[in-house]
Amino acid sequence: MKILHTSFECYPIAKVGGLADVVGSLPKYQNDLGYDSSVIVPYYNNAFFKKRKLKNEFTGVFKLKNELYNYSIFTIVIKSTRVTTYIVQVEGLLDRENVYGYDDETKQYIGFQLAVLNWLSTSDKSFDVIHCHDHHTSLIPFMINYCDDYLKLKYTPTVITIHNAQYQGQFSHDEIKLIPAFNFDNVGLLDWYGSINPLAAGIKCSSKVNTVSPSYMEELKEQANGLEGLLRSESNKCIGILNGIDTDFWNTEEDNMLAKNYKVSNVVSGKKANKKEICELYNLNVELPLFGFIGRLVGEKSADLLPQAIREALEENEEINVMILGSGHQEIEEQLIELKEEFKGRFNAHIGYDEKLSHLLYAGCDFLLMPSRVEPCGLNQMYSLRYGTIPIVRRTGGLKDTVIDIGDGGFGICHNQASVWDIKYSIGRAIELYKDVSSFRKIQKTIMKIDNSWTKSAQEYINLYKSI
Ligand code: ADP
Ligand code: GLC
Repeated sequence: MKILHTSFECYPIAKVGGLADVVGSLPKYQNDLGYDSSVIVPYYNNAFFKKRKLKNEFTGVFKLKNELYNYSIFTIVIKSTRVTTYIVQVEGLLDRENVYGYDDETKQYIGFQLAVLNWLSTSDKSFDVIHCHDHHTSLIPFMINYCDDYLKLKYTPTVITIHNAQYQGQFSHDEIKLIPAFNFDNVGLLDWYGSINPLAAGIKCSSKVNTVSPSYMEELKEQANGLEGLLRSESNKCIGILNGIDTDFWNTEEDNMLAKNYKVSNVVSGKKANKKEICELYNLNVELPLFGFIGRLVGEKSADLLPQAIREALEENEEINVMILGSGHQEIEEQLIELKEEFKGRFNAHIGYDEKLSHLLYAGCDFLLMPSRVEPCGLNQMYSLRYGTIPIVRRTGGLKDTVIDIGDGGFGICHNQASVWDIKYSIGRAIELYKDVSSFRKIQKTIMKIDNSWTKSAQEYINLYKSI
């Protein structure tokens, strides 16, 4: 079976968040199971491509509104995963420095999808399943079913994975001409509450839909930024499949971004060496428990609660350190920078994106905070478990599916509300656990051995493809 994953992100080519990690690792595990899984992503004018020679596979032309665009498809094989990856270059449209944040993003998303579909319908390449990730590529099922240009692809099964239903890619009906000619009787399939809604169209027109955890699928049927009714009515073709992680890449024994590699048997000295490195770099106290947060500084992650929760926790507990890595809302960034001044030696924040530092934090922290309001799956908690760092999570989405509270015989600290009080209370529980050295050490070792690799979920995706 030949599978093509279409996405705007893929690690190590272009990463903004977990979508990149998933698309950068799931195909590898599918290949390990004996299938032929590859990826197609846009070309970016970024560091990854600056260093690489690309092999031209195909060139073609597509029409977007009234403009003709030349595109090239290049092929590379990602060294670490051996996954064949196709790159779509469209000069002036897709060769941008960043993944997101452009005024003409709708045109970018549609242009990418048109290049993919033009390539598939005019070359000799064919795939048994097209797997579309998030709204950026979720018009593909509509277009292959109803656009005159892609009749050749009409019966290709499609899967839509919803990584985050908050973002749906809506645009106005005035821009309908961005979509190539189709029988207008079908325009209703594109519409949701008066806008063209690519994610809704994907849910309606794809063969199957999945979210990245079972709990998130259930939550979306209640609240999905307007799509809850649609997900309820399409529930027969919807399923939740929990994300996995690439345990070859996220491997404390071989991770070359760490100050010291370690394994279960020397977790104490290994983590201490990484903590020491963080504390030296960021002026923190290696003798105190270190709480970390890594992620986008946005409301979904409850990042707006962090400045107050951290301030109060630091005031109430002399004996803790906190370190934050992230970027996002300016106001939150500014509040964190203020906290750095106020709590020198016990709090620090690195505002920005830094892959290496994230690995060091997963290894060197004692606890990882994830008080998310919404978390479709979350990968941080799984990386943190694998690195022996105890996650403190709000019971929501994938966090609920992957972390069991120590009070329930599990290995993490869970709270119900996204509130300053809940975060502080959980920090208090963590401090107590830290003092109970033998229980703390036992949990560190237990969590490092939990198998959150892709093996099981990669097979679930294969089963899903087979069902269509
Ligand atoms: P989301 O995709 O919603 O941001 P996930 O938990 O699925 O959340 O994945 C986040 C991914 O991005 C993880 O690999 C995490 O380590 C990484 N990440 C998030 N913020 C940063 C940052 N500022 N620097 C480095 N890595 C980051
Ligand atoms: C989204 C979600 C996150 C999930 C990731 C990968 O970014 O916010 O929870 O882990 O996609 O599926």
